[in-house]
Formats: sequence, structure tokens, C-alpha cells
Amino acid sequence: MFSRTLTTHPTSADRLAEILAAPGFGKYFTDHMVLIDWDADRGWHDERVVPYAPFTLDPATMLFHYGQEIFEGLKAYQQPDGSVAAFRPEANAARFARSAHRIALPELPEQLFIDSLTELVAADRAWVPTAPDTSLYLRPFMFASEVALGVHPAKKVTYCLIASPAGIYFSHGATGVTVWLSAEYVRAAPGGTGEAKTGGNYAASLLAQAEAAQRGCDQVVWLDAVERRWVEEMGTNNLCFVYGTEDAGTVEIVTPALNGSLLPGITRDSLITLARDLGYAATERRISTDEWGKAVDAGEMTEVFGCGTAAVVTPVAAVRSADGEFTIGGGRPGPVTLKLREALVAIQQGTAPDLHGWRHTLVPGA
Ligand SMILES: Cc1ncc(COP(=O)(O)O)c(C=O)c1O
Repeated sequence: MFSRTLTTHPTSADRLAEILAAPGFGKYFTDHMVLIDWDADRGWHDERVVPYAPFTLDPATMLFHYGQEIFEGLKAYQQPDGSVAAFRPEANAARFARSAHRIALPELPEQLFIDSLTELVAADRAWVPTAPDTSLYLRPFMFASEVALGVHPAKKVTYCLIASPAGIYFSHGATGVTVWLSAEYVRAAPGGTGEAKTGGNYAASLLAQAEAAQRGCDQVVWLDAVERRWVEEMGTNNLCFVYGTEDAGTVEIVTPALNGSLLPGITRDSLITLARDLGYAATERRISTDEWGKAVDAGEMTEVFGCGTAAVVTPVAAVRSADGEFTIGGGRPGPVTLKLREALVAIQQGTAPDLHGWRHTLVPGA
């Protein structure tokens, strides 16, 4: 059972309206948060909704030294009937548990994960934006809160959930991004932690992302660690390659197969299903940078897009590397990309039937 301590200083209605009119991404946080403690003796305990507030942590807290931390990212959407629904939170709960296992953190039971979402969204219902393409971004995370400097799996852990109203993520998100093929830095290696959503993977990505920006690119594309040949993902997005055309009825979506170093995206998984619903073929396999360039050159690959919770579906307009540059589909988003994006967003926002049971009501309509 969650206890609830509500803030005595809620954000004023005027200020909230101002924030929700232009939320950006990850800039504003709701009035409350969820905390749950874990220790080796008692397991998970003391589930609570409390006012959003800074942590006070001992400088010797293990998190600061060894980075034992995992997180998730998912969105809740205002529905036409006045309810609020999260998109596939069970899949995030399952990935959170897999990440926990890899980073030697305790697994949070799925029901507790879902209950934490329900509790926070109920407390901060007023923070769910209603404009098209907006949502309430939910950020569950867990970290080693034991105070100790010996390197070992923490015996004391904190789970926290915060929420942030979200608008559009990439400034070039609608028109298409330019990507940098990173030959020098890798994000993840076989046997490493690439499959887990852990802070260290993101820390390791920042220098390559800065390099991409220096080269005038919006995003970095990661290649495999061993041969530096196989495409893995794009920044914090999985990648999909579109072969064929709708006119010819030959559309095939190709996405790099899960190999242990890719983050198994829930958007990726959903789009594979939606592609098949739309009559497209969808294939998970390896794809090389060489194939990418040649297939675009030959006109066989007509569109490429990144996909992930934060940015949804982002067309890739141009690809730059040490060897040169090429554009895809004239640098404009293609019809298959737009159709898949629309199909996904319609389910998330409740304007299309939920054939796969992906919407999970967190707060019922009035
Ligand atoms: C490295 C990485 N790849 C892919 C994704 C996309 O995953 P999802 O669709 O579950 O958001 C994310 C974002 O979570 C990510 O951080």
C-alpha cells in the first residue's frame, strides 16, 4: 500500500498552464514523486507518494562511485474519454527487471512498477498535457543508496519515479535528422551492458554525440564494437530501414536484430507489429553501413527512421561519415515513415482501436 503525502505548495494553475503550453522535454517536473526503498533484509518496502524534492545523499553513496543505476522512460497520454493511459508499461516493467538483473540490482515486481505509475499520475493528473503530440513522460529509476566504498552489489537501493510534461523532442524531428556514423567510439560491446538501460551507457555516449554535433550532425549512429561494420542504433533510438515502395506493394522494414548490445526498444517492437498490420514485411537482421549506402544509391532503400519513446519516429535525412555523405529520399520524411508514425501515435493517443492491448489506463475518465 502506498502512503500519500501531498505537497502544501502545488504549482499554481496559471504557472501550470504556462508550462503545459510549451513543455519542451525534461525541463519541468510535476509536484510529486514516488519513492520505494529496498534492503537485503526487508526487500521492497515503504512505497510512498511525496512532494517532489531534492535528495540528500551521503558523499560515499555507492551510486556516485560505481554508477549502479538503471532507468526507464515511458509516456502517459490524455485519452479522448478523459482517462489517462500509459503505452505498454508492462513492457517497460519487464525491461526494468532485465536491466536490474544485469546491473545486479533487485528486480522491482511488475505490479509495484505499474502501481507506482498509477499513484503518481493520479496525484499529478493536472500535469497531463492535452495538446496533440504531447504527453506526460514518466521516468522510473533505481540506484544504489548504500553508503560504502567497497565494490559490491548494493544492499540498500532506492526506487524513484518522477514525471515531466513533454512536447516535441528533436528540433528537426519532423523534417529529418542528419546522422554521424561513429567509427571511433562504440556504445556497447558483446557481453557488455548495451541491452540494459543503465546510466553508464549514456555517459559513454556523450563524447561521440559531441563529435557528431561538431560534424554538424544531430545524432550519432552506433556501429558494432568488433567489426565497426554493422549498424546498431541511433543515439537513443533504434533504427528502421525501408526497402521498396508502397506503390509497388514491396515495402519491407528492416531493423537490426537484437544482439545483446542493442537496447530492445518498445517502440521498435511496436512498429514491427504495426508494419505487419499495415501489410508490410518486417525483418530483424544485421545490416551493414556498406549495404545502407549501396541500397540508398541504387534507389532500393527509400526511407530510414529512428524510433524511441521520447522522439517517437524521426526520419533520417542524411548520413555523414569520414568517407562522405549521402541523403535519403531527397532529405524529406517518406510516406512509410509517416504512416507508421501516424498508426503508432493514434493508438497512443486513443484515436485508433487498441488491437494489441497496448494502452493501460492509469487514471479513469471523470
Ligand atoms: C539506446 C536506446 N536505444 C533505443 C531506445 C528506444 O527504446 P524505447 O522505444 O523503448 O523508448 C532508447 C530509449 O529508450 C535508448 O536509450
